[in-house]
Amino acid sequence: MSEGYILKQAEKSLPLKWYYDQSQFDLEVSKIWANDWFYVTHESALNEPLSFVTVEVSKYNILLLKDRDGNINSYYNTCSHRGSVLQKDSSGKLKSNLLVCPYHQWSYNASNGDLVRTTSINDPKDFDKESNCLTKVNLKIWNGLIFVNLNKKAVWDAESVFVDYSAAFLKLNVSDYKLGHTWKKNIQCNWKIFWENYSECLHCPNLHPELSDLVPIYGRRLVDIKDDPDWEKLIENPDPKFQGGMREGVQTWSMDGSAQGHKDQYLESMNDFPGYIYMTSWPSVFIAIFTDHIRMVRILPISNDETEITAEWLFREATLNDPNYDKNNVIDFAVMVMKQDGDACELNQKGVYNPARETGTLMPEEYEIKRFHDWLKSKI
Ligand code: FES
Ligand SMILES: [Fe+2]
Repeated sequence: MSEGYILKQAEKSLPLKWYYDQSQFDLEVSKIWANDWFYVTHESALNEPLSFVTVEVSKYNILLLKDRDGNINSYYNTCSHRGSVLQKDSSGKLKSNLLVCPYHQWSYNASNGDLVRTTSINDPKDFDKESNCLTKVNLKIWNGLIFVNLNKKAVWDAESVFVDYSAAFLKLNVSDYKLGHTWKKNIQCNWKIFWENYSECLHCPNLHPELSDLVPIYGRRLVDIKDDPDWEKLIENPDPKFQGGMREGVQTWSMDGSAQGHKDQYLESMNDFPGYIYMTSWPSVFIAIFTDHIRMVRILPISNDETEITAEWLFREATLNDPNYDKNNVIDFAVMVMKQDGDACELNQKGVYNPARETGTLMPEEYEIKRFHDWLKSKI
C-alpha cells in the first residue's frame, strides 16, 4: 500500500533559535527575500495613472507606481540625495508625473526614474544627474499579479515561482478581476511561523471549528485523502470527510457557505474541483481560488519576530457590481480564520525562547512543513 504524502518518521523542526535570532533573520533576508520574486499586489490596486503602492520587506522600501501613460514601474522608495523615503504612505496618488522627495524636494520623473531637478541654486559642474536617478527594481506582472525581485538578474519563471503551480489559474483571466477588499494585520511572529501554520491542519478542529464544518476533512486534522495512512481503502467513499472538498451544499468559503449566484464556469466544469484550489509561492504569498472570488494572502517580514499579513479579495467585475452580492459573506469568514491562525502564530512565537530545547518535532501530517524547511535550507 502506498503511504501517501505523510512523513515516514518524526522529523526535526528547524532550530528554535531560527525563529528569533537576528543573524539568522538577516541571512534569510539577504538569501531569500532579496533574491526571490515576492508578491506586491494585484494590478487593479493601481487603478488609475499616478497611483502608487509602497511595501517594506525588512528594511527595504519598495515603490510601485503607475505613470501618467499607464505603465507600472518599480523603484526603491529611496531618494538618491541622502536616502529619505520618497513616499511614506502605503498607497496614494501623485499630483503629477513627478516623484518629489519630502525632505529637500529633489524631483524624479515617475516614468523612468530620471532625476529632473535638485533644489540647489546651482548644481556643481561635476554633478552627474544620470548617476542620481532612482534605482529600478525588477518587476513582473503575471496574470494581473505584480511581483518584484530585488535581484536585478532574476528571470521570471511562473512554474518555479509557485511550488504547486495550477494550470487552472491561467483559465480564470485574473487580470480582469478587481480588488474588492484589503485587510492587513501585523502578527508578532517570525515569518516562517506563519508559513508553518498555513502548511498543516493538525490545528484545524481545535482552532477553526467553523472552517472544519465547511471542509469536513479539516475536522480530521487532514487536508488530503492521502494524508490518511489507509487512504487506499477510502478511495471509493464519496464522503468529503475522506475525499476532501466542501460539505454538501457548501459552494465557497463564506459565512453561510453560499456563493450568492456567482460561480466560475471554468472551475465548475472541472471534474475534480473540490471547491478550492491553493497555489503557494514561497516566501511571499498563497492564493486561494474559489468559485466566486480569489484571496491573495501576502506575507512580508518586518523583523525577526514581526510579520505583516495582507489579504486581498479579488472578484470578477460582475460579482462586485451585483447589488445582491454581499462580499462581506466571504471576507468576514476568511478574516475570522486568519485571526484564529494569527493568534496561534503569536502563541507559537512566544514559546520558542526555550534555551533548553534545540528544535521541535514534525509529525506525519506535517509533510508540507518539511517541504518548506527543505526549501528554506536549500536557499541559505
Ligand atoms: S534626501 Fe531626498 S532630497 Fe534630500
Ligand atoms: Fe489554520
